[in-house]
Amino acid sequence: MSLEQTYLRNLHNRPHDILGIAMASDKTFYIETFGCQMNAHDTEKVIGTLQHQGYRLVEHEEDAGLILYNTCSIRDKAEQKVYHRLNQYKHQHRNGKRFAVLGCVAQQEGDKIFARAPFVSLISGSASYRKLPEMLSRLEAGETRITGLDELQTEETFETEFTARQNPYRAYITIVEGCDKFCAYCVVPYTRGHERSRSSASVLAEARRVADQGYTEIQLLGQNVNSYRDPEAQRSFAELLAEVGKVSGIRRVRFTTSHPRDFSRDIVEAIDAVPVLCDHVHLPVQSGSSRILKAMNREYTRESYLERISWINAARRPISISTDIIVGFPGETAEDFAQTIDLLAEVEYDCVFGFKYSGRPNTPALHLIDSIPEAEKVTRLQVVLDRQREIQRVNYARHLGQIMEVMVEGLNPARGQVIGRSSQNIPVNFTCSQLIAPAPGSYLQVTIIATHPNSLVGVAV
Ligand code: SAH
Ligand code: SF4
Ligand code: F3S
Repeated sequence: MSLEQTYLRNLHNRPHDILGIAMASDKTFYIETFGCQMNAHDTEKVIGTLQHQGYRLVEHEEDAGLILYNTCSIRDKAEQKVYHRLNQYKHQHRNGKRFAVLGCVAQQEGDKIFARAPFVSLISGSASYRKLPEMLSRLEAGETRITGLDELQTEETFETEFTARQNPYRAYITIVEGCDKFCAYCVVPYTRGHERSRSSASVLAEARRVADQGYTEIQLLGQNVNSYRDPEAQRSFAELLAEVGKVSGIRRVRFTTSHPRDFSRDIVEAIDAVPVLCDHVHLPVQSGSSRILKAMNREYTRESYLERISWINAARRPISISTDIIVGFPGETAEDFAQTIDLLAEVEYDCVFGFKYSGRPNTPALHLIDSIPEAEKVTRLQVVLDRQREIQRVNYARHLGQIMEVMVEGLNPARGQVIGRSSQNIPVNFTCSQLIAPAPGSYLQVTIIATHPNSLVGVAV
């Protein structure tokens, strides 16, 4: 696809242009999304569904008749964000605005949200979005206590042909919904329900559709993509990866998230065999101590995790590895924590997301004594971040002088830089002598000339 085509596609995807098409509608909505990429993609499906129902997306709460929050409950801080927003905007209820709470907090709290924020009219978890058109009709008829909460056991996935993609350069495609892992600290199995895989035929049809729309990068989504099992053709995840990699026009395929227990060698073999699979695996370890991993119900040990890392490191091309770490899980001793720090150095990650343990409703770990004081969690998190900063500095310096293929994601006009990302998922900011700025979704060869703590700096070749 040419730069012009990419640019035209991006223009077409922009909310105010959609607004131009649907100018006649007086039903307006605003949506804000919290949480993970699955939520971001759910929002794209919700937007498409609302637009199909005659609603028009607006950019500001003030202009919207219906305000939706697609919420996250992974840590307490994330959960509190929605209540903060509702407090901020509750006075607008008097102007006739309606409020809806969607996503993981909605599923977790249910109609308790009505008690806490009586002006909310609709509450729905992700497994009930199929019913959104019906729930919207009831909302329009004046109902104020609408819930979609009782669908967690469903085998169905929420696919919609109306998906209104908001990301101009990356097409998200859900392949697995829900999670059956029940890690001791995690709310997801309770907020998103049982794990269910989508048929590979349907995934591939969507991949071809987004390629036809001009997307060149696909990100396959699931809380645990490695346990993907095609309900019809019995394809494994690695086989699905290989098939998606064959879709004409697709230049990059990413996937998230991998669970170490289900991460099999054939995934590395697929990356070896299929060039469009990106040079990156996100493999959350959570802790470097087998004792804590057992308490977390992660179903792998430090040793079996490191074995998987050795498979990845033995791939024919270098694969960048990133991870998630939780510090201060109940019972985590100084020795356990030291093992986590030691693991960081052993694996030499390119990126680490560190979190302080947060006790979550319904989870088994909530019954354990949250023994680590907040100040100690803060200290441990800082140790993780400081250690990782040093590892990253050394890792990133290895790219100096290299030419990398970078996909453009946007511009930073203040710095006169183009913002992009390498196949390894490392942010690359670069300058470019082209008169017209390269469009999001285009690819350029960039020479790396400097490093920052979380990005590389380059010049377009
Ligand atoms: N399905 C993915 C991750 C889902 S949540 C996986 O299994 O890896 C993203 C990250 O949030 C997790 O990897 C974990 O590091 C963190 N997280 C989840 N629950 C948490 C909790 N209760 N407290 C702190 N961090 C948590
Ligand atoms: Fe949560 Fe564990 Fe499932 Fe990830 S695998 S979503 S951490 S329960
Ligand atoms: Fe948050 Fe739900 Fe995702 S809890 S991280 S939005 S699955």
